[in-house]
Amino acid sequence: MGYSSNVYKSAQDLLFERRLNAEKAADNRRENVYKRIPRIKELEKEISSSGIKAARAVVGGGDVVAQMEQLRSQNLAMQAEVKELLISNGYREDEFEPQYTCKRCNDSGYYDENGRTLVCSCLKNALISCACEELNRTAPLSLSTFESFNLDYYDKAVDPQTGVSPYNQMSVILRYCKNYAQNFNKHSESILMKGATGLGKTHLSLAIAYEAIKKGFGVIYTSAPTLTAKLEKEFFGHTNDSSTENMLIESDLLIIDDLGTEFHGQFSVSQLYNIFNSRMLSNKPVIISTNLTLREMEKIYSDRFVSRVCGNAQKLDFLGRDIRIRKK
Ligand SMILES: Nc1ncnc2c1ncn2[C@@H]1O[C@H](COP(=O)(O)OP(=O)(O)OP(=O)(O)O)[C@@H](O)[C@H]1O
Ligand SMILES: [Mg+2]
Ligand SMILES: [Zn+2]
Repeated sequence: MGYSSNVYKSAQDLLFERRLNAEKAADNRRENVYKRIPRIKELEKEISSSGIKAARAVVGGGDVVAQMEQLRSQNLAMQAEVKELLISNGYREDEFEPQYTCKRCNDSGYYDENGRTLVCSCLKNALISCACEELNRTAPLSLSTFESFNLDYYDKAVDPQTGVSPYNQMSVILRYCKNYAQNFNKHSESILMKGATGLGKTHLSLAIAYEAIKKGFGVIYTSAPTLTAKLEKEFFGHTNDSSTENMLIESDLLIIDDLGTEFHGQFSVSQLYNIFNSRMLSNKPVIISTNLTLREMEKIYSDRFVSRVCGNAQKLDFLGRDIRIRKK
C-alpha cells in the first residue's frame, strides 16, 4: 500500500507486542495454575519428557512398537487428566494457550491460505492507524475534547445580525458533533464547519477525531496549508512516494483544517479537489473547517469544487465572539 518504512516498522512492532503480551499472559496463567494445583505441574513435566523416553525406548531395543504404544496412551491419559483438573478447578480447557487478539494470524500479521501467504486484515488495520498516528503527532488531540468544550463562552442573547442566539446555535452544534462522534463509521456524512476565528471549529473537529481514533478508526488531521505543501513537495520532488495521497484517500476520516489559508495555486486546488472527489465517490467522510463563506469558496475553488465538497456535507455555522481573546 506504499506506506513509509517507519509506518511498517511501527505496525509490525504493534503486532509483535500483542503477540508477546498474549504469550506472557499465558505463561502467567500457567504459573498461577501450577501454584494452586502442583499436580498439573508434575503432569506437564511428565508429558514434556515423553519425547526423551521415546528416544530411550528406541535405543534400548526390545519391543519398541509396544513401548511406544504404551508411552502414547500414558501421554494421552496425562493430557486428559490435566484438562479434567483444569475444568474441575474452574479454569478453561485451553487455559495455557495464548489468547491472541487476532485468531486468524495469531498476531503475526500473515496467514496461509491455499498455499499462499496473505497479509492479515489486522496488519492492514495496524498500518492504517500507525500511518495516521504519524501524521497526528502535530495536533494537540488530547487537549481539545468534548469535556473541555464549554458552552458558557457563547452569548445567550439573540444576535441582532443573524437573529439567533450563539449559545443556542452552539448547543445544537455541540450535540450534533457528540452524536456524530458516538455513531461514527466509515460512511458517516461529511461536515463543513464555517465561521469566524476562535469559535471552536478546530476544537470540535479534534474532539471528533479523538473519539474516532479511540474506537480504532484511522483518522488524519491536517491543515490545508500543511497538506498542500506536503503534496507539492512530494509531487515536484519526484519522490515517487504516493503514500500521503493514499492515506488521504484511504483513511476512515479526513479532517482538513483552515481551508482557504493555503496558497491556492492551480496545483493545490486540483489536488484538494481530487482527494475530496475520490473520498466522496467511495462515501468516505471529510471534515473541513474554514473561515470562508460559501461565496468566497466558490471564487477560490470553482463551483464544481464547492458543490462537490458542500453538496453532501452537513454545514455547521459557528457563531460567537473570539474565544482565544476571551480566554486570555
Ligand atoms: N467552547 C469552547 N470551550 C473551551 N475552549 C474553547 C471553546 N471554543 C474554543 N476553545 C478554545 O479556544 C481556542 C480557539 O479555538 P479553535 O482553535 O477551535 O477556534 P477555530 O474556530 O478553529 O478558529 P480559527 O478559525 O482561527 O481556526 C482553542 O484553544 C480552543 O481550545
Ligand atoms: Mg481552527
Ligand atoms: Zn491477523
